[in-house]
Amino acid sequence: MSGKDIRALFLGDICGQPGNRAVFIGLKQLVKDYRADVVVANGENASDGFGITPDEANSLFSAGVDIITTGNHVWQRSEIYPMMKGSGKLIRPANYPPGVPGKGMVSLKVKGTEIVVINLQGRLNMSAIDCPFRIGRELVQQVKRSNSCILIDFHAESTEEKEALALYLDGMAAAVVGTHTHIQTADERILPKGTAYITDIGMTGPVMSVIGSEPNISIKRQLTQIPLKNRIAETPAALQGVVVTINTEKGLAKKIVRFSKEMRV
Ligand SMILES: [Fe+2]
Repeated sequence: MSGKDIRALFLGDICGQPGNRAVFIGLKQLVKDYRADVVVANGENASDGFGITPDEANSLFSAGVDIITTGNHVWQRSEIYPMMKGSGKLIRPANYPPGVPGKGMVSLKVKGTEIVVINLQGRLNMSAIDCPFRIGRELVQQVKRSNSCILIDFHAESTEEKEALALYLDGMAAAVVGTHTHIQTADERILPKGTAYITDIGMTGPVMSVIGSEPNISIKRQLTQIPLKNRIAETPAALQGVVVTINTEKGLAKKIVRFSKEMRV
């Protein structure tokens, strides 16, 4: 690796206490193993699957997370709103209507390079918020490209929407990574104009589960069609995500590597 490269580690949706514990126990070693320079984690499910509290966010920062991105569930723990307004390190999707708490973009310096993290949310099978394509492009164009690298967490359900957005912004961002489905996909690649892409980086949460939840409840929900309240499965968790190596002179990706590391917690 040349001195001009940085490595950005993205951690998939941190789900409930098993996910939080996996971060506390495993993140520092993961950062060492991949020689990561910056860690971006999606934390919208940290609080028993729904939202994130200020204490949970602070614990994740202490464990080595630099920036927390979120998504549709972030609104379910309103005690986080003041922190979203105050802390630049916890962001929410940028394409929510004007006036909602927080902001959707943050920048930080990493090894002398400006890293800009943008959070967007999809609309297919999700809330009908503003267009992530239009807002995403506007934000990317606002960022001064010289000496800056743009990382995008696209929190979305639809593979079609995720691939389309990544190709729409190809060559403008160093990485567009998908979150939200909790299932890691095996399609990581560098797009033709240099943007690293993966449809979904996966989940940091209980492995033997239904997207993080207790299987018996999920099966009963399917069998009965009664919207029973889900509960996070208390089983050992995995840390899942990707590491993107970025050429800081170009602000584009050289390599994307996927990881899934099971913990005994
Ligand atoms: Fe989500």
